[in-house]
Amino acid sequence: MKNSSCPIGIFDSGVGGTSIWKELHQLLPLEKTIYLSDSKNAPYGIKTQEEIIRLSIKNTERLLEMNCKLIVVACNTATTNAIKVLRSAYDVPFIGIEPAIKPAALKSANKAIGILATRGTLTSELFAKTSELYTKDINVVEVEGKGLVELIESGKKDSDEMESTLSELLEPMVKAQIDYLVLGCSHYPYLVPLLKKILPSNVSIIDSGEAVAKQTKFVLEQKELLNTNESLEAIPQFFSNGNPAILSQLINASENNYKVSYLEF
Ligand code: DGL
Repeated sequence: MKNSSCPIGIFDSGVGGTSIWKELHQLLPLEKTIYLSDSKNAPYGIKTQEEIIRLSIKNTERLLEMNCKLIVVACNTATTNAIKVLRSAYDVPFIGIEPAIKPAALKSANKAIGILATRGTLTSELFAKTSELYTKDINVVEVEGKGLVELIESGKKDSDEMESTLSELLEPMVKAQIDYLVLGCSHYPYLVPLLKKILPSNVSIIDSGEAVAKQTKFVLEQKELLNTNESLEAIPQFFSNGNPAILSQLINASENNYKVSYLEF
């Protein structure tokens, strides 16, 4: 039986979903969280929908074995390709993440926005529907972030290789004079310093992390699953089936000292 003291489960194809975990932990510090990094199978973005669904089910089952009361799919690729199947197969609430196309389209003065995401997200039905709904009068420059997840997963987020890869990928966006860049992959918030260096200063960068945290809080309240017990030990747990050191670097960049464990899943 799930109750408010059970943990929130979070999964991603790798380390990127920790950008979402940070927002969640900031908004809901009393919640226990369990993060699964499926780094062994990253990147998801170039896999078939069938394969993304199979991996998302595998991660979900592992989190349910750990008694999670709600699952955050901290991956745009898994959300846009698999969340429908997950919601129909399991009775826990799922929170997904999708590229923030709507706010970017509404705010763009130039009527030109860029979307950087994986192939799996850009070719999904869910993405096509949202895009069609909000971008009728907008020039949308969609770019597949080829190679970016691989570089982040191998600890090269700030490398010269990353800078030159990004410069090349962003060229069509700069040419189109976008004034909003939507980060459509939970790995990409880690690239903001480099993105700011490369893009003209009038370009705003947006991601969906804060919205996911707010939606998680809302759903927990609605389902009466929000933890309000301050004496509950809410130490976050992190598991990786790849190299735990890369994940550890990202979550412990400030003063934290969270433990990351290796786990087969
Ligand atoms: N973090 C995943 C996302 O948000 C990365 C996808 C991948 O592994 O290619 O889409």
